[in-house]
Amino acid sequence: MPDHRSLSFVVVGHVDHGKSTLIGRLLHDTDSLPAGKLEEIKAVSERRGMPLEWSFVLDAFQAERDQAITIDSTQIRFATELRDYVIIDAPGHREFLRNMLSGAALADAALLVVDGAEGVQEQTRRHAYLLHLLGLKEVAVVVNKMDLVDYAADRFYEVERDVLAYLSGLGVTPRAIVPICAREGDNLASRSPNMPWYEGESLVQVLDRFAPRRAPVEAPLRVTVQDIYRQDDQRIIVGRVESGLMRTGDTVVFSPANELARIRSIEAWGTENPPVEVRAGQPVGFTIDERLFVERGDVASHQANAPVLTNVFLCRLFWFGRTPLTVGSSYTMKLGTKRARVTVEAIEKVINTDTLDGGQAEEVKRGGVAEVVLRAQMLLAVDSHHDFPTTGRCVLVDGFDTVGGGVLSTEDYPDQRQGLRQVPANIFTVDHKVTADARAARNGHRGAVIWLTGLSGSGKSTLAMETERKLMAAGIQVYVLDGDNVRAGLNADLGFSPDDRAENIRRVSEVAALFADAGMVVVTAFISPYRADRDRAREAAAGVFHEIHVKADLATCEARDPKGLYRKARAGEIPEFTGISAPYEEPEKSELVVDTANSNLENCVRQLVSYILAATNGS
Ligand code: ADX
Repeated sequence: MPDHRSLSFVVVGHVDHGKSTLIGRLLHDTDSLPAGKLEEIKAVSERRGMPLEWSFVLDAFQAERDQAITIDSTQIRFATELRDYVIIDAPGHREFLRNMLSGAALADAALLVVDGAEGVQEQTRRHAYLLHLLGLKEVAVVVNKMDLVDYAADRFYEVERDVLAYLSGLGVTPRAIVPICAREGDNLASRSPNMPWYEGESLVQVLDRFAPRRAPVEAPLRVTVQDIYRQDDQRIIVGRVESGLMRTGDTVVFSPANELARIRSIEAWGTENPPVEVRAGQPVGFTIDERLFVERGDVASHQANAPVLTNVFLCRLFWFGRTPLTVGSSYTMKLGTKRARVTVEAIEKVINTDTLDGGQAEEVKRGGVAEVVLRAQMLLAVDSHHDFPTTGRCVLVDGFDTVGGGVLSTEDYPDQRQGLRQVPANIFTVDHKVTADARAARNGHRGAVIWLTGLSGSGKSTLAMETERKLMAAGIQVYVLDGDNVRAGLNADLGFSPDDRAENIRRVSEVAALFADAGMVVVTAFISPYRADRDRAREAAAGVFHEIHVKADLATCEARDPKGLYRKARAGEIPEFTGISAPYEEPEKSELVVDTANSNLENCVRQLVSYILAATNGS
């Protein structure tokens, strides 16, 4: 992390648009080159029979970098009269992305270089898109190589218009757009007589106006755990405060374990008076008052505003793997200090960074930008980048290669922390004296939860009600819990946000389990779009739970549109509508699939009724 007395920035832009020359010349013009460096560059340039080549400054840094193979970015320092600067330079596109996304080097600002002769090119757009994705607000643009266009004002205005058009499409407002010739030093440290028509600031003046990124002290607390040190019989948890602030005595929750402890002490070496508070941007060692199992990769936060616990989330991703990213492939995700295996569940869209359009695609090619759904094998503590710029980023690794990286969103998925609820204190459950066998003997069949899941309009309610009628006629104690009915009463306080849906399903799972325990057959008809919620419903009624996928594709459901809701959802009148603007996770291990798209109601009911009779020994 750059230290915050200086300002760090990255220089990005299309290849050959002059990034290295700009950096070299900027160092020279701010008197920041080490003694003798200029002579060295002159000599090398002469030997090669070329005019003074500023980019050789960077070659020298590159040589240093080559010796330290673990470092893939170099920090180049210079100073203006106002302050010190750190240019975070990465040898290539990939390294740049990796640095920006892994948290190794989150720059304060960015400088986008565009060639005045060539204008905005593909990589210009791609890099600008990345800056937008990362939420970098401090952005300035230089239009370089103005000498090649005879320092013509018209050409500058033309390029400026293109740059502004693209950036405004992204919602990025540059602090300034400066015409320069890096090689000659025009408009770098001072205004150039070659472009008298330009009345704006020099580049250095623009840089001096950049605001440093403030450590997010006001944001909710996040401490990423790096290691546990044992000292005598103490365990010191070592990590970094990524956001917020933590005080001795605070109660924190460790995720993903979801376990609580109080901060007993904040450790400091070489001082008698350890601090009682640590803030965003600081490393920290601390002890807690419980013997919890804490390990590298865990995240400590306060209970309010804890990270979302989920095993499925959206990643807006840059892909630079040699082989394209495809659905079903698995990678190691580095999220803070955590490493976890993730599988690509879906490619939602691939974004064309030229036009900013998004389209469907089977794969994401090298250099591509996409929104993908990732699924982990276990719950992870995930932050949305929108609210947590420091922790909401990840990189994907395949073997030893970094193949992609991006920013995360948990918006579409529920927080599963609420599902981890434990039996509250002072609660003692009592056993019934009536057994399940006795109930089954009385009813002539066993109790069961018949859980129908499927898109809205797939036919769940129709199927459930017909099935209930048939089963009743066959002497089965049966009752239907239907989505719209339950939402009109018991769950009238819930909407359709991911968390509300999870709570809807949690309550229905518990009610259904009680019905089954009472010896009844309960048929539930809920979209229940999340796999994790359905898995919990299965746990709640362990042994008597049957998941039935009422299957009809989106196009079929939309054509049926029995309640006119799809039409409204398409018109943008219903937010978060399943299948349109909210996800539906198809079952992977349902006991039965009823295909209502290709089979008529009568057949579907017959199929379901005979399944239930067999499953409950009802016939
Ligand atoms: S669930 O997702 O929480 O399982 P549930 O089955 O209870 O949903 O309710 C779904 C019914 O609510 C749909 O059949 C539809 O009639 C209605 N509905 C209203 N808004 C939405 C929405 N945003 N997404 C899905 N269904 C909705």
